[in-house]
Amino acid sequence: MSPLGVAVEVLPFKMKYIPAIMSWVKTEADMVQWAGHAFVWPMTQRQFHEHLRESKARLPSLYPFALWNRGRVFAYCELANHQRNSSSAMLSRVIVAPRRRDKGYATFMIREVLRFGFGDLGLNRIWLGVFDFNKAAIACYQRVGFVFEGTLRQSAKLGGSYWNCHVMSILRNEWMNGHGVTTAQQQSG
Ligand SMILES: CC(C)(COP(=O)(O)OP(=O)(O)OC[C@H]1O[C@@H](n2cnc3c(N)ncnc32)[C@H](O)[C@@H]1OP(=O)(O)O)[C@@H](O)C(=O)NCCC(=O)NCCS
Repeated sequence: MSPLGVAVEVLPFKMKYIPAIMSWVKTEADMVQWAGHAFVWPMTQRQFHEHLRESKARLPSLYPFALWNRGRVFAYCELANHQRNSSSAMLSRVIVAPRRRDKGYATFMIREVLRFGFGDLGLNRIWLGVFDFNKAAIACYQRVGFVFEGTLRQSAKLGGSYWNCHVMSILRNEWMNGHGVTTAQQQSG
């Protein structure tokens, strides 16, 4: 049980969560903001199933996570692109059900994922991409210890607009030194 009073399910992710997660993504812009170009609009359950196949491999490169409460999923994210030769992976597809946002759930979930990545997987680097207008996501990533590395300028295109994508990362020693480690002080703050 988390300090927020919710249970976090790490693995195995249940395929039955997929329709709920997809219901939070109402438009193509929502989809690209959330998942980049991993899916094609209109997104389908089949695409999501295909995407998650990597998590079933003998040596997976993708690990799906969900937060749930009273049998209902309300947040989702992945550790993806697990590169064993460089001990790195990418935090991706972070999303919280619209009605549950701004309550600290993403922050809690990401701290759990960092614990899994640096602890269980023994990673050295976890990185992510976030569009520059996504202030809530950036605040959340900074809160758990991610720092900016640079900006992929106009790297995504939606309709007639190009979007800038910030690259952020957290290294194992930074996480170990407490930037990403959950402490009683951080939880109450
Ligand atoms: C991004 C997202 C996952 C955050 O989830 P959440 O549970 O609301 O996140 P948290 O409550 O843990 O943290 C949100 C932080 O953003 C801050 N925030 C919210 N709106 C903000 C805004 N407009 N400007 C600046 N900061 C903002 C909150 O104050 C909080 O920071 P704090 O903890 O320092 O106070 C959620 O908004 C979401 O699902 N968005 C749609 C999908 C998406 O964009 N995913 C990210 C892809 S990179």
